[in-house]
Amino acid sequence: MTYTRFEVVDDILRVWGESDVLEVSIAHEGVARVRSAPHARANLVSFPKLPRKDSFAVVGGERQRLTVDDDDDRLTASGGGLNFSLDLRAGSWTVTNESRQVLVEALSTTGDPQSLLHKSTFSLGAPGGAAYLGFGEKVGPMDKRGLRFTFWNTDAFQHHTDSDPLYVSIPFTTVLHEGRATGLFLDESWRSEVDVAREQVDRLTWTSAGPELDLYVIAGPTPADVLRRYTDLTGRHAMPPLWSLGAAQSRWGYESAADVRGVIEGYRSRELPLDAVYVDIDYMDAYKVFTWDKARFPDPADLADEALTRGVRLVPIIDPGVKVEPGYHVYEEGKALDAFVRDSRGDVLVGEVWPNPAVWPDFTREDVREWWAGYFQGLVDVGIVGVWNDMNEPAAFSIRGSGSHLGDIERSRGSIEGKTLPYDARHGTRRHLEVHNAYALGMNNAARRGFQAAMPNHRPFLVSRSAFAGIQRDSAVWSGDNTSAWSHLELSVTMLCGLGMSGVGHVGADVGGFLGHSSPELLQRWYQVGAFYPMMRNHCVVDGRDQEPWRFGEATVEVVRSALRVRYQLLPLLYTLMHDLTRTGLPPMRPLALHFPSDVRATRCDTQFLFGEDVLVAPITRAGHRQRLVYLPEGRWLEIPNFERGGVTFDGPADVTVQADERTIPLFLRAGGAIALTEPALHTTSANWRSLTWHVHAADSIRGHLYEDAGDGYGESRETRLTGGFQSGALRLRRSVTGDLPLERSTETMVVYGLGNVARVEGAQRWSFENGTLHVTVGATWSEVTVTS
Ligand code: GLC
Repeated sequence: MTYTRFEVVDDILRVWGESDVLEVSIAHEGVARVRSAPHARANLVSFPKLPRKDSFAVVGGERQRLTVDDDDDRLTASGGGLNFSLDLRAGSWTVTNESRQVLVEALSTTGDPQSLLHKSTFSLGAPGGAAYLGFGEKVGPMDKRGLRFTFWNTDAFQHHTDSDPLYVSIPFTTVLHEGRATGLFLDESWRSEVDVAREQVDRLTWTSAGPELDLYVIAGPTPADVLRRYTDLTGRHAMPPLWSLGAAQSRWGYESAADVRGVIEGYRSRELPLDAVYVDIDYMDAYKVFTWDKARFPDPADLADEALTRGVRLVPIIDPGVKVEPGYHVYEEGKALDAFVRDSRGDVLVGEVWPNPAVWPDFTREDVREWWAGYFQGLVDVGIVGVWNDMNEPAAFSIRGSGSHLGDIERSRGSIEGKTLPYDARHGTRRHLEVHNAYALGMNNAARRGFQAAMPNHRPFLVSRSAFAGIQRDSAVWSGDNTSAWSHLELSVTMLCGLGMSGVGHVGADVGGFLGHSSPELLQRWYQVGAFYPMMRNHCVVDGRDQEPWRFGEATVEVVRSALRVRYQLLPLLYTLMHDLTRTGLPPMRPLALHFPSDVRATRCDTQFLFGEDVLVAPITRAGHRQRLVYLPEGRWLEIPNFERGGVTFDGPADVTVQADERTIPLFLRAGGAIALTEPALHTTSANWRSLTWHVHAADSIRGHLYEDAGDGYGESRETRLTGGFQSGALRLRRSVTGDLPLERSTETMVVYGLGNVARVEGAQRWSFENGTLHVTVGATWSEVTVTS
């Protein structure tokens, strides 16, 4: 591709090649945007601008000043700390940072306007040794190099550990190369494919069914910088209500109010913590969304109220498919609004999902989202404050004719890929091929708005199965229909970490596995991993084995109870990490590479993860294993199984073997780390913790923080920072506080590890030193503690 002509208008560099157009801008500090349209110059005598874009994903960013230099064969545009440099003859370009390090090199751009699925393609250099994290909810190891993915949201029932595509499309990766991180985000909702140095070892090739490739190159240098900037562009999670971080039980097949009561009683009678019961499609009247089956759930408000008195919220499922039934209010109102997706002939598209026949709201439309939002008042009126949005790829079991042909199964008009709507279904003037991947965004946004209008003083909880980049603004994501298999337990670690590296940190996988039959040991170990999923829900399929913990015998109940106790103890830490997520985009569950980007070994740890910056989780994910090998990156690490006691300290980088009987979760606390835990409880109440224990691994420099508030609503908050470290032979710990939330506790405890000997502790009410661990009780308003040996 040779480029012959350019202009700069409003800080956008526009360059015309033989048949293509490039538009370059600095979308944000540290973010270069290159829109490349390989065949935009259909008429070769004109010099078109690319059309204005309404991105589904990008909602933020501040365009930076652009300085352009035209030097013979090279055009350079600089701004916001980045340089875009185009070789006018060869057509290749690079983005470099201020130190002229190459962040990305584009090798070629090609287009095939006739092709349905491969209209626009470009190849970026994939330097040897570079690792690729993220890409949303994808199978495979943390590092996706050598794999190929399709972005086409799919109801992947019975997927395997190498199935692709699944339910979510987030065309965003963080490239780690020589310790430096660079983000590549392709802002295309169109069906697309990426080949991550699989076909050609030195190329990453991206292909879209759309007319252009809209690439954001996001500077690091650290993975955290990339995530911050990516979430500056695409938005961040809102703070969830505390209850949604508690344990949840679900199953497809809780058929009546009595079933739900039985589950709550099952938990309470065994003193198992529980905060939510999810209600699946069984609650609806003939699968009609926003209805209740009056025979089986005669008084949902009463049920929700009774559950709440036991500390439990109900979370009903919401499916987008609207049953075609004259007189059914949602169908009639949607029809009056002309809210439903149409087929290529212009008729309302009719198909089958749970309701049959069904039609699908066109959530790309503002008025349709507003209409859908209106139904949430009815949920709030019965005491529902959270929902799970399912089948929103959207899933369709079949597509029928329409109008007078209603009921006749027809061959689909236009191609269909997976169980969904045809490529050429119509959302206004746009084809499904373009908006399919973004369908769930509108549905979740409508739900959030609906809740906000109906309960302005409470935080809603939303979790979605399908998603596109930006879903985090409205919803959490769970990983869909996994299987009760050890391989899926392992998969959940890389998959949830991959989502976390894609801006979606509020995530979970079905604990115990959805399809098939779990086993006592699998369920136990799954709870131990699930204790660290931000969303922790046991869920299973209608014809699966009953999966409540007590179905597997008393020994399982005990192991699960101990995992749940760990979960409820770590809520102050998780809640703080969720708050960090809302501000920085950093997920609670992190691949090791996020904090150790130059450590190649860390990049390859697929069954371990960091929980925050300082806790390393190395769970057992294999049947029969009672020990495992753990890789500890640089730093000093204290073994602290189940957060119960300090064990051996190791200096990383090191491979160590740890023991883990059936109730043990191998955990490590990094030197310098200080984490806040509370007492276990049967359900959550407030995130203004009445009982608080800091676990501190003493080092030269200590960092810990805690975010507290009421656990719901938008009221006062308090942030506590714990700092200090060894200073001339003594360990000093300092506490500093910001925010107006009044304290609810009079004392705090500190457990300090990593001390050789203790002679004196100043600033404490009480202290004791045993087995190398210092226990200190301080007044809750303490400001400094000094430990002298
Ligand atoms: C889908 C969901 C699953 C749910 C089922 C019935 O398969 O992924 O979680 O139980 O539908 O609603």
